[in-house]
Amino acid sequence: MNYEHQITICLGSSCFSRGNKAILEIVKDYLRQHQLEQKVFFNGELCTGLCEYGPVIKVDDRVYKSVSSDNIYDILNECFGIE
Ligand code: FES
Repeated sequence: MNYEHQITICLGSSCFSRGNKAILEIVKDYLRQHQLEQKVFFNGELCTGLCEYGPVIKVDDRVYKSVSSDNIYDILNECFGIE
């Protein structure tokens, strides 16, 4: 399948316990609500050493640090051009 975007969420223990557990569900819901599940490859990865900046999420080539359940919506809206 040809995806237009890729989102990779860090599921390492530090990021996961500091917020990515909830953000994982938020991203899944967001993709479902905006019918983006066929266009976005959403996957997880283990710790990449950025723990001190976590929770970390990657959207295409960009790395977002200190992601929270508040700013994740801004990140996703910006990525998909949704207001
Ligand atoms: S646990 Fe996410 S960068 Fe280390």
